[in-house]
Amino acid sequence: MSGLEAIAPAKINLTLEVLGKRPDGYHAIRSVMQTITLADRLTVTPAPDLTLRCDRPDLETPDNLVWRAAMVLSEESGCTLGAAMRLHKQIPVAAGLGGGSADAAATLLALDRLWGLRTPPERLADMAAQIGSDVPFFLVATGCALIEGRGERVTPLPPLPPQWVVLVTPPVGISAGAVYRVFPPAAWQDGTRTAAWLAAAGHGQVPAPFNDLEAVAVQVAPACIVAREALLAAGAPYALMSGSGSTFFCLFQQEEAAQAVYSRLRTAGHQPVLAAFGPSATVRDV
Ligand code: C5P
Repeated sequence: MSGLEAIAPAKINLTLEVLGKRPDGYHAIRSVMQTITLADRLTVTPAPDLTLRCDRPDLETPDNLVWRAAMVLSEESGCTLGAAMRLHKQIPVAAGLGGGSADAAATLLALDRLWGLRTPPERLADMAAQIGSDVPFFLVATGCALIEGRGERVTPLPPLPPQWVVLVTPPVGISAGAVYRVFPPAAWQDGTRTAAWLAAAGHGQVPAPFNDLEAVAVQVAPACIVAREALLAAGAPYALMSGSGSTFFCLFQQEEAAQAVYSRLRTAGHQPVLAAFGPSATVRDV
């Protein structure tokens, strides 16, 4: 074996409610998350030292979550082996698609296998939660899950009916912290809307998605609204923010309808992504 390749898919939030503020300063949330076919790719090969190269050199920094994940796994396992890590970015950054978190989860899975650690899944999930609130979701094999707590409580859900997704990421990025910091207590919910969404999803359909962070995120970064307007102008029946933004998306049952909106967005000079609901992270020998 010369190395491993991990595919790290992005996520979208199909529901998102903020339930309140926790004693640790994080917010308690309830969200249904789904992985999509837009993905980063991470390769790891045996090497004397731990190194990270990225096709976006501005992301080759110590605060890249790939580094964080490699460090946490080394420290927690006591493993002193190295690895040459190469990250190929496709998922936009600070876009509400969980790209950094997906990369971190893929790093845990790939290095655990490269280093022959066989870390029990519960320990890997603990390490994931140390790295970031969204990271544990990306370790779940189903690709669709209910997220609770600050994000670390993950309940796998049965697969949803297949959907196409058209996404538009505006030039402005948004940090999750900036949105949560100004999220008003008056907008806290009790999670029943997500429960009702899940009950409706049990009947072979995907109910209309919703996201309570959107109204606050568009106040934090009003420039992100261009993405919503672009989708609507291209004929999307609605446009919803993913996570804390800045990406907006719309789901389609029919590929032709998604393709038509995607093509109109391209003609209008945007850089949309056409994706579909997809599997969770995978790791294979290369
Ligand atoms: O965990 P992560 O580093 O992704 O979170 C970034 C920031 O977003 C946190 O520092 C916190 O301010 C905010 N956050 C929150 N509640 C969550 C997740 C994130 O308040 N459930």
